[in-house]
Amino acid sequence: MRIVLGVTGGIAAYKATTIIRQLTEAGHSVQVVPTQNALRFIGATTLEALSHHIVDTDLYSDVADVKHVQIGQNAELIIIAPATASFLARYASGLADDLLGNTLLATKAPVLVAPAMHTEMWQHPATVANVATLRARGVAVLDPASGRLTGQDTGPGRLPEADEIIAAAFKLLVPQDLAGRKIVITAGGTQEAIDPVRYIGNKSSGKQGLAIARAANARGAQVTLIGANIGEFSGEVFDFVSVVNAAELQEAVETHLSAADVLVMAAAVSDYRVQEVSDHKLKRGEIGDEINLHLVANPDILRAAVTRISAEKLSTVTVGFAAETAGSHQTLLTLAKTKLTTKGCDILVANDVSAGAIFGQDTTSVALVTRSGSSESFEGTKTFVADRILDAVVTALA
Ligand code: CTP
Repeated sequence: MRIVLGVTGGIAAYKATTIIRQLTEAGHSVQVVPTQNALRFIGATTLEALSHHIVDTDLYSDVADVKHVQIGQNAELIIIAPATASFLARYASGLADDLLGNTLLATKAPVLVAPAMHTEMWQHPATVANVATLRARGVAVLDPASGRLTGQDTGPGRLPEADEIIAAAFKLLVPQDLAGRKIVITAGGTQEAIDPVRYIGNKSSGKQGLAIARAANARGAQVTLIGANIGEFSGEVFDFVSVVNAAELQEAVETHLSAADVLVMAAAVSDYRVQEVSDHKLKRGEIGDEINLHLVANPDILRAAVTRISAEKLSTVTVGFAAETAGSHQTLLTLAKTKLTTKGCDILVANDVSAGAIFGQDTTSVALVTRSGSSESFEGTKTFVADRILDAVVTALA
């Protein structure tokens, strides 16, 4: 991707080197456009060596190439880090008295601004108004991090970490087509206890559900992830509810269903549970050579949710999954259509798990069928497939 990195004249300018390095290592082409004052803090030689591009601040060199608009027109993404209070004022006023100002006025690319300054300057009404103006124009302005500043002072004003800035910038390229939507996603595999040590489980890793949770959040959704035995998640971008068995999973789904615009049932739910769970570890000596576990059916959580959605006239879009040992693509598609009908959901995603394929892998191959009659097949990383499932969700919501 063609990325422009604008660097303005603050002490944090040296941190631009980490951003350049991370972007070039990820294979992006980075054109650095520093202001004159940025070059008081960091040399053009350093910026050129790291970015592998000539670095220039001058509006009046190479005029024949119409550089003052070309850089902005060619950019696919622009990041300004660090952004000083003075830069924010110039950008909010639409000033184009240097190469960076011209680049910003000539671009249609998304722009992320990462300010860094002393707390007083960040909180000054002039800066507050400039930030509000830029945000109202669709420019993404990060709030600075809090911590030790250049002098003895501490407070909000530090440049956020390079990976945070880069993640926020790439988020701007993702369509916000799930903004304001609440999505409940189940992931992982339930475990039904036999005794305090043993359980009946399955091979689901939770990777597909997790990928959907992260992709939905990137597209603007408010996500609740109900994870069955997939570990703990803190500091993630979704609310996380940890469950073990089908009964807990059903309770969590029921709690969150009425507020949800979308329910994605990616969890592999055990169809049966042990009727009488032993409260002590079963000893082989006690049992002998045979054990008969009396299993009873668990409720079908997805079907129950579909029934409730219809009874309460909710408009929740439902996505079911199926793990099938289909063998051929045609059979997978047929099984997917049948399960779509039996489950009564809006979208059904079927995986072919013949010979244990897909479980725990980072890639998958699915057939996706919808109640409105469309059917498609996708193959790729679970992140890629997550976005295709969400494309179908967006269509269903519309
Ligand atoms: N599911 C559910 N509650 C269950 C079992 C499954 O909500 N007790 C959901 C899963 O989360 C998934 C879909 O139903 O979205 C797939 O179920 P699957 O196990 O393939 O279907 P079954 O109804 O068990 O059918 P079969 O085993 O006959 O293929």
